[in-house]
Amino acid sequence: MKIVLVCGARPNFMKIAPLLTAMGKSGYSFNPLLVHTGQHYDYNMSRAFFEDLELPEPDIHLGIGAGTHGEQTGRTLIEFEKVLFKEKPNLVVVVGDVNSTLAAALAAVKLQIPVSHIEAGLRSFDLTMPEEVNRLLTDHISDYLFTPSPDANANLKREGTPDEKIHFVGNIMVDCLLANIEKAKRRPIPAGLNLPEKGYAVLTLHRPANVDVPETLDRLLGSILDVARMIPVVFPVHPRTRKRLEESGFIGKLAAESNRLLLIEPLRYLDFISLLLRSKFVMTDSGGVQPETTTLSIPCLTLRDSTEWVVTLTQGTNILVGDKAADLVTRVTEIMASPVTRKQRPPDRWDGKTASRIVDILKKALK
Ligand code: UD1
Repeated sequence: MKIVLVCGARPNFMKIAPLLTAMGKSGYSFNPLLVHTGQHYDYNMSRAFFEDLELPEPDIHLGIGAGTHGEQTGRTLIEFEKVLFKEKPNLVVVVGDVNSTLAAALAAVKLQIPVSHIEAGLRSFDLTMPEEVNRLLTDHISDYLFTPSPDANANLKREGTPDEKIHFVGNIMVDCLLANIEKAKRRPIPAGLNLPEKGYAVLTLHRPANVDVPETLDRLLGSILDVARMIPVVFPVHPRTRKRLEESGFIGKLAAESNRLLLIEPLRYLDFISLLLRSKFVMTDSGGVQPETTTLSIPCLTLRDSTEWVVTLTQGTNILVGDKAADLVTRVTEIMASPVTRKQRPPDRWDGKTASRIVDILKKALK
């Protein structure tokens, strides 16, 4: 069974690694072929994750690189179709919601190759997010929809997806997190930051809606600086965000506060998890960090008005604060006042066995 697994951007690698491991252990004749589209290409955004997660070298690298959405999606579609013509796989597996996900699924479905989507059914109901468009379209052309939570099943059913396509398997990112947590605990807090355990917060910021419009970015940075005056904030800066900070000149303003708001390079997987584990709380607009903090029972303040990870709000440690300065400072004051965080029960099937559930289903289906 030749199965093409597609990855392209940073949030994909921790979803592919557990699947490759589970396929290897399954005793079934899976013949996985790993394709890296090259959407992310910096060492810190890609190679470092392959090293930390002990992923094999990609069999094929498409070298797509940066560009507009149309360019990135279009180039991937063209190059990935060539791979499919040559390799003629029995199945294509895509994960998450990045441009590579949609482009690869689209190339496959047009050639009548079955597509399996891992992390299906999530909806933020905000079509201004490119990821929401990618999620919707990928789900509607996929044959096997592997969902992380019951709300994702409900979304798919509401959109008319036949029951037999939907499989509630849990969150595959949690497989990766649990498999690596002990290694992450053994890492020191990165890059000589010299911060006390639970004595700092972590910030990640890269959504176009937050960083691409200078007025919005300025407002957000203002409230983050208010927080930084309450507790040191470590900020691994995404390349998109660094560009925007430099273009707008805000980087200078932040430099003046560098003893409280610590700007560092994007971290590799194990270092980032190590940083999260020892933090007091996290502020983020990332899709992946919300479920990770829920799994680790770390308070998370999400700098967006909506989330596709609804289960992290209802059963996890996540709170939506949007970009409202007053709300952020109020929430931080509450978190700072509580000495311990209550340990949460993780959402159903966030138990490290998601990849093996997927492999069991594929084994039966592909027989
Ligand atoms: C992409 C995903 C997003 C995911 C995020 C995680 C889409 C639509 N978006 O957003 O869902 O949460 O990755 O990181 O697919 N760049 C570099 N080096 C790199 C990669 C990117 O410098 O290794 C620069 C690019 O030149 C570009 C910017 O970062 O200017 C944005 O990269 P892009 O892949 O378009 O989207 P992300 O914002 O990273």
